[in-house]
Amino acid sequence: MSKYLYENFKDDFRLGAAISGIILMSDEERQGLFEFMKKRMEEFKKNFKPQPGMPEFKFPEPQPYPKGDMPDKRLAAQHFNLVVAENECKMGSIYHGPDQFDFKGADRLLKFARENGQAMRWHTLVWHNQSPKWIFEDGKGGKASKEQLEERLKNYIMTVGERYKDDICSVDVVNECISDKNFILRDGADRSQWFDIMGPDYVDKAFFWAKEAFPNSSLVINDYNLEMIEGKRQGMYNLVKGMKERGVPVDTVGLQMHINIENPPISEIEKTIELYGSLGLKVIVTEMEVSAYLDKDFEHPDPRREYDQAFLDQQAERYAKIFECFRKEARAGILKDVVLWGVTDRMTWKNNFPAPGRGDCPLLFDTEGKEKPAFYKLLNL
Ligand code: XIL
Repeated sequence: MSKYLYENFKDDFRLGAAISGIILMSDEERQGLFEFMKKRMEEFKKNFKPQPGMPEFKFPEPQPYPKGDMPDKRLAAQHFNLVVAENECKMGSIYHGPDQFDFKGADRLLKFARENGQAMRWHTLVWHNQSPKWIFEDGKGGKASKEQLEERLKNYIMTVGERYKDDICSVDVVNECISDKNFILRDGADRSQWFDIMGPDYVDKAFFWAKEAFPNSSLVINDYNLEMIEGKRQGMYNLVKGMKERGVPVDTVGLQMHINIENPPISEIEKTIELYGSLGLKVIVTEMEVSAYLDKDFEHPDPRREYDQAFLDQQAERYAKIFECFRKEARAGILKDVVLWGVTDRMTWKNNFPAPGRGDCPLLFDTEGKEKPAFYKLLNL
């Protein structure tokens, strides 16, 4: 029997976890972050104007972090053989001006990965969220020009590649570029300033630059709900098929898989992986967790269900069924890596998404870092 979780899957796929930068910080840095979050929350509350018809919710109160190592750090080191930064490798964390780069968070995770003999992936080069504001501006109160933005993006991709190309197994080159409205490329009206300024071929360009910058990494196009919504799945299929025909160096589709306890059915997950496999592409699961809430629960937030045994068993069963499917698709040569979006339920982003402060329990370790039934189920799968 395996002792550590990744060992049980290592012949089929790497098992990864997204690492919150907070778990790698010193006590002083964490305290500083807590003060900052408190201030930001106060400001947010002061300026908050609810939209008509919006369900009521409690604002989450930032909680101070415990002193010393959090369990997440040990668990991440032991049970996973692949890591990715939850936020520290996003453009907004790194690119502060045309020649201003802050690699502190990325370097810290790389050091952690090296110390623990883990592979590391990069999330993400181009995304409409968590990008720095300055990059889309001309410095005179207007929009950056197409040439300006292209030069900035290319410079960014090349600089990141120069520093990390030998350490990164796969790169999310473009993240969440398919629109939920019409399943074609998300445009300016749908929050993509990349599309708005550079036009639709920003995706191809980013991949060509990424190939130069990271010649030995696999290059991923990453999105959510591909396994959940058939139209979106097909939209991504059309996009990558076209890219391949144009000779664009995309080799992998990333399924985020922020899924829930009931949806989607396993057959849809399987179909999705095989659809992209049929194009000769590889698939990786980039951000998985299994939420306790169905989307419709958003309007009626329940209290956290974490310690309800029936729920825990149901969640364990669901993880097991999905990982059986992953194993099969890995043995068919399509699926390469499976990454969970976090380690413990204490730190999961789902505690505040989509309903701020609602709390969720989607991962394999509980708020104290104790193994949940889903963990044991996978350990013995
Ligand atoms: C999330 C992080 O987990 C949060 O800490 C952050 O506040 C917002 O972003 N899709 C993605 C990830 O591609 O980058 C997001 O990560 C979750 C959804």
